Amino acid sequence: MIRFDTENKIFYLETKNTTYAMAVFEEKVLLHAYWGKRLSHPLSLDWLETLEFRPLAPLDFGRYSTDMLPLEYSTFGSADLRVPALGAEYSDGSYYTRLEYVDYEIVDGKPALEGLPATYSEDGDKVQTLIIHLKDSQKDLHVYLSYSAFEELDAIARSARIVNEGERAEINRAFSATVDILDLENHDLIHLDGAWVRERSITRRKIVPGNQSIESRNGCSGAVHNPFIAVCESTATENCGNVYGFNLVYSGNFSAGVDISPFNSARAYIGINPQNFNFVLEKGESFQTPEAVLVYSDKGLSGMSRIYHKLYRTRLCRGKFRDIPRYVVLNSWETTYFTFDENTIVNLARDAAKIGVDTMVLDDGWFSTRTTDRAGLGDWWENPDRLPSGLGWLAEEVNKLGLRFGLWFEPEMVNPDSELFRNHPEWALHTPGRETTPTRSQITLDFSRRDVCDYIIDALSSILDRANIEYVKWDMNRYMSEVGSAALPADRQGEVYHRYMLGLYYVLETLTQKYPDVLFESCSSGGGRFDPGMLYYMPQVWTSDNSDAVDRLRIQYGTSMVYPYSSMSAHVSVCPNHTQGRITPFKMRCNVAMPGQLGFELNIGNCSEKELEMSRKTIEKYREFEDVFHKGDLYRLVSPFEADFSAIQFISEDESRVILCIDSQRGLFNGPDQYIKMMALDPDSQYKCGDKTYYGEYLMNFGVHFCNKREHISEMLIFDKIQ
Ligand code: GLA
Repeated sequence: MIRFDTENKIFYLETKNTTYAMAVFEEKVLLHAYWGKRLSHPLSLDWLETLEFRPLAPLDFGRYSTDMLPLEYSTFGSADLRVPALGAEYSDGSYYTRLEYVDYEIVDGKPALEGLPATYSEDGDKVQTLIIHLKDSQKDLHVYLSYSAFEELDAIARSARIVNEGERAEINRAFSATVDILDLENHDLIHLDGAWVRERSITRRKIVPGNQSIESRNGCSGAVHNPFIAVCESTATENCGNVYGFNLVYSGNFSAGVDISPFNSARAYIGINPQNFNFVLEKGESFQTPEAVLVYSDKGLSGMSRIYHKLYRTRLCRGKFRDIPRYVVLNSWETTYFTFDENTIVNLARDAAKIGVDTMVLDDGWFSTRTTDRAGLGDWWENPDRLPSGLGWLAEEVNKLGLRFGLWFEPEMVNPDSELFRNHPEWALHTPGRETTPTRSQITLDFSRRDVCDYIIDALSSILDRANIEYVKWDMNRYMSEVGSAALPADRQGEVYHRYMLGLYYVLETLTQKYPDVLFESCSSGGGRFDPGMLYYMPQVWTSDNSDAVDRLRIQYGTSMVYPYSSMSAHVSVCPNHTQGRITPFKMRCNVAMPGQLGFELNIGNCSEKELEMSRKTIEKYREFEDVFHKGDLYRLVSPFEADFSAIQFISEDESRVILCIDSQRGLFNGPDQYIKMMALDPDSQYKCGDKTYYGEYLMNFGVHFCNKREHISEMLIFDKIQ
């Protein structure tokens, strides 16, 4: 998987279909040499000979301009004037870092990243890790670049560790990965953007001169941009063409983009946002960057997505819920909001049991003075008026009905109107002497403090210990502002955003390890923190507060660019939809939710007989098909961002079953005929769909006929291969 050609000084990282190569140039500089389709022969570096020096660019190594060379991990202050990977300021006031190659090490498997979420390897996996040591001799600053090659899964995970052996240094940028792409003629940049209830729309734009980037500055990965970019050929489509994906395993402020040189090359980068990031390293201290997952595919965007999906399903998500079927929940939020008591919840559970739901989740409003969203956050004990018999009793009553019991928490937040805040105002993030602007009447607890983290661990543990709670919805409902920590000195305030993430990851690690039988679901006003960092601790995310089936087509399609359907929590809700006001057929609501982690979010007692019957059937079908949706391969066939309808296809791991989901976004009078061409079937095998049989070649080349009609159409077609 990983080898070093000592004669030509080239590192090769090989996975099933890709090669990533670096070269040690002039004994000192680590060059990026290649990333793309797997090579079977040695790489030539002859192109370096003809890489011309350019006027105005600083000249280095006698004849090269550093600014022109593809560098693996560039530094600020040097003669490379592009967006740098690393920046530091030293105690003598200088800010020039010059890294030179020292040596390398190759280890089997993949070492864990201390305190940070990351992909991992298990015994028997074909995974190796290359660690390259670079050093600034004058400053005694060391950088260890780490590259793990997942041979079977076709991905590369990168990160950097910075160790200061010299005088005090302040690290003001440390990206997880940069890749200098030499030939950037006709390429596009893709990212996932949006807002609350409109998360992860696909943006695709032509790459133009200059630095083009997306970033988050709000303290979490956010709904506005996702920590993901792809660079692809302009001709690349869903199913063909070269695509390079970059995804950050991090839930805080990030920056990702491409910086284009005037000579047709680009530096793609991803990492912690340098804005307000300033990490002090005293002599002997170190800093570990989050991990970036790099995926190359020559099979278009769907090809890239399938690699991310499998890697994240199998080597990012952890614990028993990685492999076993998850729960079909009824969530109380859109049913009761803040108006309920313990009997309401038992009644909801009783109705839920009738359709086959297996978990009753009590959402917001169950604790302390929390009868509106203006008070109580931080005070994690039952509201005695609403739950006079206590959570233990409630869980038992729900269990007696044959359902599990789940509970909502928002542990990172505090309402100023709470006992916690009155007792510990210094426990909230704030800038001294200035007011903190609330959002939804709440402010953020300072998770960069260990005492706050431990308090929250204890508070949640005491609830989880005293009732049979088998599911937790972990919410986080505001962006951070006026950030500062009372526990850190003035010269370390630039560490707060990152230390907050380290604190959050510590809390999540502690609680998920302590309660391995609890299924944790992440949420941030819906999909405001849908990133690989969260998936490491919680294998599913409430994809969006928008549960409208039509909007969900786009939200789930965009999310699937990187994240598997198994990570997308999706509920059938009432119509007119509470966020959107739209009316969609019940069948469509069931079909759109089914490929995700199916659940319900409506008053089942108000459903018609027909809807109850459809719900029962949906859960039955879901249990029959969930392995295809959650372990199979996804092919995106028609994009709801480009057409009036969406078509996606799942193929089971053993390829014996194929599910085609077609959903129209709006009814069309006299709509055109469409022929949806399926993918990756066996052309010579026959597939049975209902009482009809078709050859794979017919389904792939002629296609499945579909005609948009006046109303919303929703079809889920099951094709079984005839052996
Ligand atoms: C957020 C979540 C919702 C719900 C409410 C409760 O908005 O996204 O699903 O839990 O909080 O306040």
